[in-house]
Amino acid sequence: MPEALARRISRRSLLASGALAGIAALLPRDARSATSEVREHTLVAAPGSASLVGVSEPQTQVWAYASAVPGPEIRVRQGDRLRVRVENRLPQETTVHWHGVRVPNAMDGVPHLTQPPIAPGSSFVYEFDCRDAGTFWYHPHTRSFEQVERGLAGALIVEEAKPITVDRDLVWVLDDWRLKPDAQISDDFGNMMDVSHAGRLGNTVTINGRVLERFAVRSGERIRLRLINAANARIFGLEFEGHKPLIVALDGQPIDPHTAEQGRIVLGPAQRADLVLDCVAPPGKTFSVFDRFYRQQQYRLIDLAYDDGAALRPSALDMPTRILANPLAEPDLQNAVRHAVEFGGGMMDPKMMRQTNQGEGGRSGMMNGMMDRMRHGMIWSINGVSVPGEEHVHAPLLTLDRGKSYIFDMLNDTAWWHPMHLHGHTFRVLSRKGQPTARREWLDTVLMAPGERVEIAFVADNLGDWMFHCHILEHQQGGMMGTVRVS
Ligand code: C2O
Ligand code: CU
Repeated sequence: MPEALARRISRRSLLASGALAGIAALLPRDARSATSEVREHTLVAAPGSASLVGVSEPQTQVWAYASAVPGPEIRVRQGDRLRVRVENRLPQETTVHWHGVRVPNAMDGVPHLTQPPIAPGSSFVYEFDCRDAGTFWYHPHTRSFEQVERGLAGALIVEEAKPITVDRDLVWVLDDWRLKPDAQISDDFGNMMDVSHAGRLGNTVTINGRVLERFAVRSGERIRLRLINAANARIFGLEFEGHKPLIVALDGQPIDPHTAEQGRIVLGPAQRADLVLDCVAPPGKTFSVFDRFYRQQQYRLIDLAYDDGAALRPSALDMPTRILANPLAEPDLQNAVRHAVEFGGGMMDPKMMRQTNQGEGGRSGMMNGMMDRMRHGMIWSINGVSVPGEEHVHAPLLTLDRGKSYIFDMLNDTAWWHPMHLHGHTFRVLSRKGQPTARREWLDTVLMAPGERVEIAFVADNLGDWMFHCHILEHQQGGMMGTVRVS
């Protein structure tokens, strides 16, 4: 069907629905530009197979959106309305969460909390306006430690009204798989070893669902490379040999263009980075991209292979790389209400160690406590509370007043890394370890190092109950999850 016709049809079906037209009328005017469109997609979630490790190897049995791993890239323009019908042909309930998109609460895809789970054989229609441009992604929020790991994840790209000038705009969905020698996914999802330590680290890293050797580039070209970390637990620390990519957005939100500290782009699970990569080397050259996050486990991710063709231009493109900011409310730091948020638990829990040293139970006492919590799947906690497994409905951790500004003073009182994600909002990172951040970046997921203290600030401007959890999906499963209510 020609695109123009598809648009007209989708317009008509929107107007035909009185309820939806009513919702649209309530939206502030500036949320819908004159050129905005309704974009319709269908995502069927079903078992399938994928050639992750190469065509000469066995196919991997996966769960996939639209039979593709990762799922289809959904691309819309800022101000567009997205309508996605999700059909569940999986053997389990599912939901879809639009990670980083400031959606109305009912569209957030959290089972029981914002919607009933989508039963096998049934469907659900998500519909929301894409107010922010940027790099986002979608994934299930039901048994995510299993469903995301089996392959359910895809990119959602919202293009700016006036994008920066590049030769190519590409997405790399990075994923990490634990494959057995026959290339099948090891089915030890959510085992206690992974839950209580670093999460499920795999043995096979893919870019857009493939183990790739080479990525062909042309001398002189400028690439906007959108990185999405869709792994359950792996943190990436990417280094581009011979290149100085500029970071122009984090978690979809524009930032002053800058090169990464020590040339390493660190991405925790669920985080995104938009890079401007100028391919300034001569034709025919090859450079490697390394992942050096885990000292014991560094590897070459891929090679940038320059083709032999003539350079596209003699030197790097001389065009601005700064992206226009999204319409985010600026937190009022003077009058912000502060909340202390403390993350605890895991193996080598500092609190339990301290108690042990103070003789409050001894080593066997510590182990008994640990085993007891493990039996109940409650390994991790937020402000002392563990919310195990699929229990998405529970008393809110914090209740915030709509429209007010808040500072979360967060302490990672564990021996592990945690990418902490807040739904429905985007926050500024004010400080780390007591030092103000250089760029006060906007994020929806902030990676906290062991023992690290991080202050974030935001305006609680989205009504509803929002998940606040660690995006190492095994940690989420093990209790590192809570709800923040905006009322
Ligand atoms: Cu990307 Cu609560 O999730
Ligand atoms: Cu965690």
